[in-house]
Amino acid sequence: MFLPILSSAFALALFAINANSAALSNRQATTETVLGSFYAYGEGVDGLPVFWSDETAFIGLQPPEDSTTAANVTFHDESDSTTLTVTANDTETLSATTFFVDNSAGAFEPAGFTSTPESADELVTSGFIVFGNQLVLVDDTGALEQLWWAVPTATDGVWSLRWNVDTVTDDNAVPVVVKNVAPVPIGVGTS
Ligand SMILES: *[C@@H]1O[C@H](CO)[C@@H](O)[C@H](O)[C@H]1NC(C)=O
Ligand SMILES: *[C@@H]1O[C@H](CO)[C@@H](O)[C@H](O)[C@H]1NC(C)=O
Repeated sequence: MFLPILSSAFALALFAINANSAALSNRQATTETVLGSFYAYGEGVDGLPVFWSDETAFIGLQPPEDSTTAANVTFHDESDSTTLTVTANDTETLSATTFFVDNSAGAFEPAGFTSTPESADELVTSGFIVFGNQLVLVDDTGALEQLWWAVPTATDGVWSLRWNVDTVTDDNAVPVVVKNVAPVPIGVGTS
């Protein structure tokens, strides 16, 4: 007679614990979105990772020759705020982690990372979303912009990631799409 009552109380307590932990992980899931690494796709740029080098965004597999610190990075949207921050994939400590572009008229400047987003007047640090799997900037009117270009550096196979506000043509540069999806390696999979 006692036993069934005890065990149902026990079952209830277990249920309460489970419900609590489910609520907790839901809450964690909504406070931060991990977007992963971004990869650039365009003519001659076949899904190379966007990486951090001396507070600037580059595309490729190796640091540019004058780089002091370089790291692959994972992008996060910490509170669904459309402001993206990065963490290094290795053990490097990054001096600046908030992603920005220069969206002022005529700018064709490298995208980069700032440690003082609150005072980065000329720079845009919010409005970034992943639409489909592509990195876009939502402008004041709600339009989705993708003005990403890759400009070659002095180092072979390494490009600077730029935001080309007025879509100026540059013979060396190529427009790219920036996706949070890595390329599928050729020859891997079914054969
Ligand atoms: C980033 O990771 C790729 C492999 O995914 C590696 O080839 C490349 O050297 C790494 N780049 C940096 C800057 O650590
Ligand atoms: C960086 O780390 C994330 C998480 O482990 C991983 O998904 C991503 O492929 C890594 N990026 C590169 C460029 O290797």
